[in-house]
Amino acid sequence: MHRTVSTTAEFLQKWDSRINFLLAGECVPFSFSFPSTQCIVERLVEEDKTTAIVGQLRNTTERENLIENFRGMSFGALMETSFQFRYPDVTLLDRPGDIFEGFTEQVLIPWKQYLLDNGFEWDRCYALARVSGPNTSTGYHMDRSNVLFWNVRGRKAFHGFTEPDRWVPIEQSIEKRISQVMPEGVLDEDILTYDVGDNQLLWNHLMTPHWVDAPELTFGINFSLGGLRHNGRLCRYEENLYDSLGKNPNESWHPETSSVAFQK
Ligand SMILES: [Fe+2]
Repeated sequence: MHRTVSTTAEFLQKWDSRINFLLAGECVPFSFSFPSTQCIVERLVEEDKTTAIVGQLRNTTERENLIENFRGMSFGALMETSFQFRYPDVTLLDRPGDIFEGFTEQVLIPWKQYLLDNGFEWDRCYALARVSGPNTSTGYHMDRSNVLFWNVRGRKAFHGFTEPDRWVPIEQSIEKRISQVMPEGVLDEDILTYDVGDNQLLWNHLMTPHWVDAPELTFGINFSLGGLRHNGRLCRYEENLYDSLGKNPNESWHPETSSVAFQK
């Protein structure tokens, strides 16, 4: 079941399949030298736009932003508690001397150019940063984005299903987050787990149920893609979402990150 896609030809075949896969080789046209995870944690805990959860629910998502509970805490104190941080736009910290200096040029532009060169367009594409403290979980959920998950440092277990459609049929995939709860009766053999280590990338298809465990401190980048289409064609689940909403939900959501904006 485990698959690594490392050629563009295969990526073009698999990007809209429902099963997660690792991405490598010519499909990853970027690299970056990040500062230490401690340095990133110390910076993000004080940033206005950082949000936080405790990271102890596995079967559903935590919705409340608890960042104020963590402000002012030292790295050592954070390591003794349970936390996960999310920072929504890496390019905001791409400034001289800041932790993501050079990220746009070295990562975001090559990635967008790669997509464009291979027949993709999109309505939004941006990178967010995530830190997961030791022994935490990101609970069961589905994203209304295709996500390229870049595990930069640390070990994580990225879980999904071997047959996602069996657990979440297409009509159920558009339900709100509040009703996204781990189904009952899931057996070990129904779960597809990728154990990812330093500098590994995983493609998580839009609206595919997943949950992620971090046994140790990890840092990563998520590229979030909305309205992704290849030669003008959306993936089936996003097309269904547009049909059910009666509109394109991505049009008014960060249009400055669209492929049209990128080409200007
Ligand atoms: Fe997710």
